[in-house]
Amino acid sequence: MEKINAIITGVGGYVPDYILTNEELARMVDTSDEWITTRVGIKERRILTEEGLGTSYMARKAAKQVIQKTGVDPDSIDALIVTTTTPDYKFPSTASIVIGKLGLKNAFAFDLEAACCGFLYSLDIAASMIQSGRYKKIIVVGADKMSSLIDYTDRQTCVLFGDGAGAVLVEATTEENVGVQNSFLRTDGKGLPFLHMKAGGSVCPPSHFTVDHRLHYLYQEGRTVFRYAVTSMSKDILEIMQMNGLSDQDVNWVVPHEANLRIIEAVAKHAGISLDKVMINIERYGNTSAATIPLAVWDNEERFRKGDNVIFTAFGAGFVHGASYYKWAYDGASAVANK
Ligand code: ACO
Repeated sequence: MEKINAIITGVGGYVPDYILTNEELARMVDTSDEWITTRVGIKERRILTEEGLGTSYMARKAAKQVIQKTGVDPDSIDALIVTTTTPDYKFPSTASIVIGKLGLKNAFAFDLEAACCGFLYSLDIAASMIQSGRYKKIIVVGADKMSSLIDYTDRQTCVLFGDGAGAVLVEATTEENVGVQNSFLRTDGKGLPFLHMKAGGSVCPPSHFTVDHRLHYLYQEGRTVFRYAVTSMSKDILEIMQMNGLSDQDVNWVVPHEANLRIIEAVAKHAGISLDKVMINIERYGNTSAATIPLAVWDNEERFRKGDNVIFTAFGAGFVHGASYYKWAYDGASAVANK
């Protein structure tokens, strides 16, 4: 049997219209554009402000765009994975809501939660499903409405996050030497004390007490998260390069999870990768959790050439991390020109 490879054949994205600037944040909490820019490199982030709209709204927009751009027959799609930490509801899954709105008649859908690593995990799972020969077309969406769990009175966290969604279509091909080449995913289980939301889950369900004590917001120990993120992502880049005999010269692009600019710069430095090979858009969107990698790919699609060696890496709550070596499968500039 011919080997089946899993390739990304198109990219979609969506960010809400509302732009929350550093200047506006400085009117809400004791911070400044200068502090935010130098410490995390973020200038603005998008916020989904319309009442009644959640993550599925952004996920649907991104998925719809990838369907339109690729011209794929919606009835031929086998599965839809939405990876998110901010689902519309505890149940049903956000993916089931998206699939209903998109009207994908022959697909099944599920959510995957791996915090900021969600896209990396989902791409790997979609690729494995395709390589098994059972599925041919899968849409993977990374989407998060981080503003729904951010305390906008807490200057340590509110400056970091934004809302958005990115989507890719993953398809089967028998063309050799393109697509997902290799990957590894890790979950070390040490992250709970350092990054979590205290209430709202089964350990501490919502109550007057949890609301009164502001326990429904993201909590983090920033310095510890910073240290783990830099160590994990830089080691993971080096490990995937070593596993595949890649030198820094062989790598065309690194697409890291965009947590903040200082983390990205330190990761590139430790991994010996020149910053001009690192796709960065944190300045405009902030940390959109599961959406950062697909949004960076969406933003930079025209820069990819067929055959480019791309490394995806991410780190998130749990702690979860890993890396994937991907060989780009189409000319991004033509795809953008034809859109
Ligand atoms: N504006 C002004 N001052 C601030 C702000 C702010 N927004 N936030 C914190 N400060 C103050 C602190 O109160 C502290 O003041 P003090 O010295 O008077 O006590 C001072 O700045 C230094 O605080 P630190 O926490 O030591 O600052 P640090 O340099 O570590 O930067 C930051 C904090 C940006 C959160 C950093 O630790 C970091 O980037 N951590 C990673 C967090 C992250 O990216 N999380 C995302 C989720 S996980 C992921 O996506 C990988």
